[in-house]
Amino acid sequence: MYRLVTAFFLVVAATFSASAQGLTVPSYWLNQRGSEMKLYDLKADGTFKGVFINHAAGFQCQGTPYDLWGRAIGNHVKFVVIWKNWTADCKSKTVWRGWAAGKTIATRWVLTGYGFNPLRGTDIFQQQP
Ligand code: BTN
Repeated sequence: MYRLVTAFFLVVAATFSASAQGLTVPSYWLNQRGSEMKLYDLKADGTFKGVFINHAAGFQCQGTPYDLWGRAIGNHVKFVVIWKNWTADCKSKTVWRGWAAGKTIATRWVLTGYGFNPLRGTDIFQQQP
């Protein structure tokens, strides 16, 4: 009986947190620069993982997947990519912060790294079917 009750509460907690995060996973997103983002592994505490493939003109580290880590609390979403993988090390990092609403995540980002002043911008991600 104890196990049954525990299992019930775990299922309820997991269901609540998944719907409370404003994100569905696994999910596939494109931003207005043509970059791709795949999200998966959303935990009950709102943390999630993913991969980001940068296709934005004027930036480095293009065309290969980079690990992404994030957290969603309510509809607020924050995620980070360190631009280092097996093909390239751009010695930089981007942090996006924004809001998830349905099939849109609207963000502001900061790109920091070695040898240049921080760059800031906005990205709008649309969930793809
Ligand atoms: C670098 O050039 O140092 C690494 C790649 C940075 C790509 C940035 S992150 C914010 C913006 N949105 C994108 O989709 N790509 C650029």
